Amino acid sequence: MKATGFNRRKFLQLGSTLAVASTISPISYGATLLDKNDVKPLGNDENIRLFSNENPYGPSQKVLDAITNNTNRVNRYASFHSYSTDTLKEKIAKINGIAKDQVIFGHGSFEILCMLTRTFGQQRDGIIVPATTFNVTAAFADRIFDHKVKRILLTDGMDIDLETTKKEITKNTKLVYICNPNNPTGKSLPAAKLESFCKELATTNCTIAIDEAYVELMEPSRRPDTIELLKQKYNVLIIRTFSKAFGLAGLRVGYAMGLPETIAKLNHDSYTFSGLIGNPGIVAAITALDDTDYVDEYRKKNVEVRTYMESNLKKMGLKYLKSDTNFMLIEVKDVKRLKEELVPFGIAIFPSGGKHYPTWARISIGTLQEMKIFFNAINTMNWLTS
Ligand SMILES: Cc1ncc(COP(=O)(O)O)c(C=O)c1O
Repeated sequence: MKATGFNRRKFLQLGSTLAVASTISPISYGATLLDKNDVKPLGNDENIRLFSNENPYGPSQKVLDAITNNTNRVNRYASFHSYSTDTLKEKIAKINGIAKDQVIFGHGSFEILCMLTRTFGQQRDGIIVPATTFNVTAAFADRIFDHKVKRILLTDGMDIDLETTKKEITKNTKLVYICNPNNPTGKSLPAAKLESFCKELATTNCTIAIDEAYVELMEPSRRPDTIELLKQKYNVLIIRTFSKAFGLAGLRVGYAMGLPETIAKLNHDSYTFSGLIGNPGIVAAITALDDTDYVDEYRKKNVEVRTYMESNLKKMGLKYLKSDTNFMLIEVKDVKRLKEELVPFGIAIFPSGGKHYPTWARISIGTLQEMKIFFNAINTMNWLTS
C-alpha cells in the first residue's frame, strides 16, 4: 500500500524531521460546525493531516482506475446508466440483505446527520446525543431551532452512557444518536450491550441512529450486528460513509440504512431528493465495495501504526484511550499549546476532545512515517505531562 499524491510522497522522502519541518509554511484556520469554539486547519497539501481521520493511503488502485476510466460520464447526471445512484443503492441493499427502499444517500454522511436534525429535532427534547460525540446533528439543531438538544455525559470511563440515555427518553424523544465507535474517544460499545439497548428501545417511538463511520476499522468480531437488528425490524438507522476506510473523503459519499418508513421520512424532508451524488463518487463507491481486500489491508496497517503509537505513548508516560479507529485521544497538559507547537513541524491536529475533555487531543493515525515525524516532534516537548 502506498501513499497517493506526488507532493506527499516527495515530502515524506525529505531528510530529517526538523529539516522537513522548517520548509513548511504555517497553517491557516477556519471555524467549523463541529465546535464553535474550536478551529481546524484548512489543510495545506504539505501538512501532515492528523485532524480529520482520513485514510492516509488513499483509495485502492482499482478505485482510482475506475474513476479515471469513467470520466466520459461527467456531462451526465448520475441516473440511468451502469454507474448510477440506483446501481449503488442496489449493491448496498444486496450486500446487506435489505431492500432498496431501505437505503438513502448523502453528500457524505455529514449530510445525513444534518437530515436527522430536520426530521427529528424540531420538537424540544426530540434528539438525545452523548457528550462528547461527533457533534453534527446536535450542533446543527442547536443552531437552527430555538431549543438545545439533550446531551448525556459519557461515563467516568469515557464510554457512551446507555443506561442514563435510556432514563432520559421521554414521549417527545424521536431520535437517539449513538456514534459507534465514538468520535472523539475512538472507543466502541460492547456489541451485546448496544444490541440489547436497541431491542429495549423497541417500546419507545425512537429511531436509534448508529453512526458507523469507522466500523470497517474495527475487528470484525467486535462489531455489533446492527444489520441483523434492522432485518429484525428494530428501528435503527445505520449511517456509514466511504470517507474513512475506503479513502474517498473528497468524493462525499455517505449512506444510511433503515426501516422503509424511516428512509421515506428522510427522503420526504430532504431537499436533495436522495442521491444527488456525483458520478465519480458513485463509480468509486461501487468499485470500492468489491475491493474488500483493500479495506482489510488498511485495517491491518492501521492496527500496526496504532500499536507503534501505543508503545511510544507508554514510553513517554502519556495517557491515551484504547481506540478501535484510525484516531486516538491522548491526554496532554495543554492541548492548544500542543497544536501550536506542532505547526512548525508541519503537523496539524484537532485541538481537543471537546469542552468536556479539554486536556485531550485527538490525533488521527497517519502512515508510519508520518507518525514517526509526529513522535520526533512531541519528544522535543518536555512539558506534555508535567
Ligand atoms: C463519526 C463521524 N460521522 C460522520 C462523519 C462525516 O463523514 P463524511 O461526511 O465524510 O461521510 C465523520 C467525519 O469525520 C465522523 O467522524
